[in-house]
Amino acid sequence: MSENPLVAGTSEPDERVLEAALRPKNLHDFVGQQRVREQLSLVLEAARIRERTSDHVLLSGPPGLGKTTLAMIVAAEMNAPLRISSGPAIQHAGDLAAILSSLAEGEVLFLDEIHRMSRPAEEMLYMAMEDFRVDIVVGKGAGATAIPLELPPFTLVGATTRAGLLPGPLRDRFGFTGHLEFYSISELELVLRRSAMLMDLKVNSAGFTEIASRSRGTPRIANRLLRRVRDWALVHRNEHIDATLASRALDMYEVDARGLDRLDRSVLHALCTKFGGGPVGLSTLAIAVGEETETVETVAEPFLVREGLLGRTPRGRIAMPDAWIHLGLTPPEDMPLGPGTAPTPSSSFDDEQ
Ligand SMILES: Nc1ncnc2c1ncn2[C@@H]1O[C@H](COP(=O)(O)OP(=O)(O)OP(=O)(O)O)[C@@H](O)[C@H]1O
Ligand SMILES: [Mg+2]
Repeated sequence: MSENPLVAGTSEPDERVLEAALRPKNLHDFVGQQRVREQLSLVLEAARIRERTSDHVLLSGPPGLGKTTLAMIVAAEMNAPLRISSGPAIQHAGDLAAILSSLAEGEVLFLDEIHRMSRPAEEMLYMAMEDFRVDIVVGKGAGATAIPLELPPFTLVGATTRAGLLPGPLRDRFGFTGHLEFYSISELELVLRRSAMLMDLKVNSAGFTEIASRSRGTPRIANRLLRRVRDWALVHRNEHIDATLASRALDMYEVDARGLDRLDRSVLHALCTKFGGGPVGLSTLAIAVGEETETVETVAEPFLVREGLLGRTPRGRIAMPDAWIHLGLTPPEDMPLGPGTAPTPSSSFDDEQ
């Protein structure tokens, strides 16, 4: 797939520039995630009172929910400089040593996609996190020597979409782990209100609700849909965005009332009309909609499962009763939910990827 779908949780480089402008800069402006926000606020406040660097923080959760935003907020709240790198950028222990040895006292080091760091770098990080020390290996083979290097105290903020892939020893070295959950519609309305204000847009409450309900619980998607609605309003010379305008604009972009896009709907449609609701194998389903198996599995399926529209069973994919209703179809009398077809629960994001 070449283009990122409108309802993808992930972002393209171009979009990150637009996102930076909408990022809340402090905990107070960060909407939702009440528990994580309160806990993190306590960790940071305690560190400030003790006049020490904060414990290392791990943030996990699906794309677009605010991990990078929170990492930046940690640095801002601690009034500390921020260094940004990522797991894929650290392929050798030496890459990490170079970063660590140049940190200033109290600096916040943000490592995005920390689960993609190489194993030797990871092992170096263990010692750095625990003892603020690394061993730099000089030379090769029998003549190699390890020179210990003291590091100034720093705070590591790690982010991952796949907490399940982090090795236990690494996870255990974080003093605080925050798991970000999908946002409720009312929380997304608050995100949108704030963004609309920054973008100088006039949107009424019903307009916010309409956009929020199509945003798949994800602030990044909410902000993206808001920009598309803004474009529509601009072209149609309509200054006031209400529910009718928002739904017209988003219908045009093929994002429906529940946030499903064309691919999601065609998967459900094929499942219901061509396979009588399943069970049907994933690859057969993918062929029926003319997509790669991987696209169906990673792009469409997680959201459809989360919404209770599609089920995974040992015998294949099935349409849940809600799928028929959502497509305006009548579910068959004998819904295929018999023995051996009960969908496997799939609550965590890791299971779905
Ligand atoms: N709680 C929030 N309040 C307001 N805006 C938010 C919130 N969370 C995220 N956003 C907005 O959503 C966008 C994406 O957030 P962010 O980049 O932090 O996500 P992420 O979890 O790091 O995603 P990825 O896994 O792709 O790196 C940003 O523009 C940010 O402004
Ligand atoms: Mg991020």
